[in-house]
Amino acid sequence: MKIVSVVGARPQFVKLAPIHRAALAAGVEHVIVHTGQHYDPMLSDVFFDDLGIGTPDVHLGVGSGSHGVQTGAMLAALDGVFAEHRPDWVLVYGDTNSTVAAALSAVKMHIPVAHLEAGLRSFNRRMPEEHNRVMTDHAADLLLAPTRVAVDHLTREGLAERTVLVGDVMTDVLLQVRDEVRGTPSALVRELGLTPSGFHVATIHRAENTDDPKRLAEIVEGLAAVDAPVVLLAHPRVVAKAAEHGIALSRGSLIVHAPLAYPDLIAAVLASAGVITDSGGLQKEAFLLRVPCTTVRGETEWVETVELGWNVLAGSAVEIAAAASRSRPADTAAEPYGDGHAAERVVETLQAGAH
Ligand code: UD1
Repeated sequence: MKIVSVVGARPQFVKLAPIHRAALAAGVEHVIVHTGQHYDPMLSDVFFDDLGIGTPDVHLGVGSGSHGVQTGAMLAALDGVFAEHRPDWVLVYGDTNSTVAAALSAVKMHIPVAHLEAGLRSFNRRMPEEHNRVMTDHAADLLLAPTRVAVDHLTREGLAERTVLVGDVMTDVLLQVRDEVRGTPSALVRELGLTPSGFHVATIHRAENTDDPKRLAEIVEGLAAVDAPVVLLAHPRVVAKAAEHGIALSRGSLIVHAPLAYPDLIAAVLASAGVITDSGGLQKEAFLLRVPCTTVRGETEWVETVELGWNVLAGSAVEIAAAASRSRPADTAAEPYGDGHAAERVVETLQAGAH
């Protein structure tokens, strides 16, 4: 069997790692296509190196652009790649422009498409990720759902027959890397002279939080007012938007730092008092590491983290600062994101469905 995985943005490289490992273990031919959506080494190359993925087989070098330009460039390039490789499955990941482009190209070429992390919904139609999820789920032939909640969403949209609950592959990689870094001191703590359990890790990158200067200023005010240091691992988008709008990022409790490689991020979160983020992956990683999370959004796709008390949604500056300094919730043994073996289930499911 031959699978072509299409990835392009940071969280997709994390999800790719356990799939690549499981594919190799099962003797499956696995071709990796990198669209080039993320091209900064700290958003891309370090994940391939640290997570043992090797190098992509095909690199499209698409880069940044408006949604239409970026997605269209990927579409134009992917037709030729799929025609050359003719895989049994095209596997697409998550909710980025790379996901929807690959799903659309493959479905039109009559190549079976599987969507990993299918069925997540924010029900916020202003988010580009929500458009990408809905369109990809309805285009794909096989929907690999991470959670029961995701299965329920797909069922309500009439897609139950194409859906398989496999668990969350981010759990696979997180548990493995957690065990590798546990016991070694966090490089970020050492570099910045932080007190273990006396600081927060923050990331902000979503369009809804960065592109409107008023919104970005409100979030920065909230982060700066937290009662302990907040290390903002700044995505290039937030740096660019802050500079464009004349918003100073280094003030109050806020310390700006470049993004981290995956093992360094996990070590930093393990050493922290809490996480403040608008990333989907980081909300779950915080939960799996049992570190309280404050999510700077009006809704979340990962509702289990909120229901179990480990994640709080916060909008205004006052809400952000207050939520970040709340006390730890009661512990839980719940495993809504699977048992760390989702990737093996994905490969088995693809093998069972290969023509
Ligand atoms: C994308 C995904 C988002 C995901 C995120 C993870 C879409 C619509 N959004 O958002 O769902 O959570 O990746 O990080 O696909 N830039 C660089 N270097 C890079 C990449 C981007 O400088 O390597 C800058 C560029 O100015 C670019 C901007 O960041 O215009 C936005 O990048 P883009 O890939 O369009 O979206 P993300 O915000 O990264």
